[in-house]
Amino acid sequence: MRDKMTLSYSNMLLENDLKVIQKLEKKYNAIPLKGDVDLQTTDIAKLMGMFAEPPEDPVYVIDIGKMVKQMVLWRQYLPNVKPFYAVKCNGNPALIDLLTGMGCGFDCASIKESQTILDCGVSAERILLANPSLPIPLLQFAREHGIQKVVADCEAGLQKIHVHHPGAKVIIRIVTDDSASVCQFSCKFGASLETAFSLLKVAKNLSVDVIGVSFHVGSGCGDPNAFVKAVQAANVVWREARSHGFHMQILDIGGGFPGSEAAVSFPEIAVPVQRAIQEYFPGVVVIAEPGRFFSAASHTLITTVVNKRVIRKSDEIAVDASGNNTLGPVREECQYYLNDGVYQSFNCLFFDHAKVTPIPLPRQSQVLSTSTHTSTFFGPTCDGLDCIARGISFIELELGDWVLFPNMGAYTVAAASPFNGYYKWNYIYVNTFDVHRERELLLRNVRKVSTITGRGRATVIGFKSKAETVNVAEEALLVMAES
Ligand SMILES: Cc1ncc(COP(=O)(O)O)c(C=O)c1O
Repeated sequence: MRDKMTLSYSNMLLENDLKVIQKLEKKYNAIPLKGDVDLQTTDIAKLMGMFAEPPEDPVYVIDIGKMVKQMVLWRQYLPNVKPFYAVKCNGNPALIDLLTGMGCGFDCASIKESQTILDCGVSAERILLANPSLPIPLLQFAREHGIQKVVADCEAGLQKIHVHHPGAKVIIRIVTDDSASVCQFSCKFGASLETAFSLLKVAKNLSVDVIGVSFHVGSGCGDPNAFVKAVQAANVVWREARSHGFHMQILDIGGGFPGSEAAVSFPEIAVPVQRAIQEYFPGVVVIAEPGRFFSAASHTLITTVVNKRVIRKSDEIAVDASGNNTLGPVREECQYYLNDGVYQSFNCLFFDHAKVTPIPLPRQSQVLSTSTHTSTFFGPTCDGLDCIARGISFIELELGDWVLFPNMGAYTVAAASPFNGYYKWNYIYVNTFDVHRERELLLRNVRKVSTITGRGRATVIGFKSKAETVNVAEEALLVMAES
């Protein structure tokens, strides 16, 4: 009986996903590639063949199906956690449209981001202002547009809320141990437990309504225990807030979940997080602010070699047979100039501490050289700092050859600059989501989750397609499944 319920429930969610993606396929002219589990390099080579002329600008191939698969994964492992996508990570309209359709909320940090989300027809209840440093105009905007959920971590923040958005529902952000995360935020955000306690008193005196606790363990988190410790700390603040008479409603577990292959996988983080939530916050509405989880793997970047130099270097002095000083051994290096660089998509090397992997992408019927050389990849601008990879071993490329970079959807275009006039990309949308395959995978994974939790049963939960989340728990659909 329960298996039947699971199946019908899963089908219902997947049917909704299917409707959303079918709509987006039309809107973005996405090419269906449903035979593939994930996007293949051979598919990308074929897609690139669609350009009549070799594209001057870099090309992003965006797999909208990959984002749906990420949502399916999220529902399996964090069934009662509602994602509020961190718009800052990648504001591509297809991504926003898709997450809107699948009932996601949005974490916004500015008027611009908030307006973009409102313009997509998302209701104000589905927006969270998660940046604790809230400028006054943003608070005024939030007040005018009915955005109530805001985050604060200091007294000045509470004072501003009191004056400029007195009806706001405040979530207190606490500090975390982010030492295992690639991008750390605790130097800048989050109240210590002691400060959080005193903020509760300040809020009480100002009649500011505190409804929750939040944290962010840092982006690219490498330690599941950081989440567990933060959930425990949030529980301490939660209980203190209740003792002051606040009606606590929301735990916000922030972002930090991996979006592509990482040292610690999503399930390795999600399983202990889910357990901690069940232990410390049973029955509570839990939200999160994932960014890269949804966007990273959906984008593949294809760059073109626009210039090439072969550098011959000899830095040493040797002595020849006649005893004269001469040049020492000569080293050769191939230097390639690509049409995207660190001022554009590859700003992620600096701001996101990203590691990128260049992969040669042969044109159809092109046979690439097999000999490898020491190679350096530069971006297109006039700055020597504009270097994507230095001194790596790579096959020899020629002008016009393509170099592919997978997992380029997080913190790339979002922070790009127009420096030197290079600020344009071609976008090709594809869809690898196959509802039939996902249905089978889902059932298989329900069994897998059951094994991990060791309880012989798993909880599968999701949101109605029109989740206007006044109360997320009410909106949630819950089905217990037995393995
Ligand atoms: C407040 C806030 N929430 C969420 C995120 C998203 O983090 P991630 O992409 O690691 O999930 C960030 C990232 O900067 C952030 O600052």
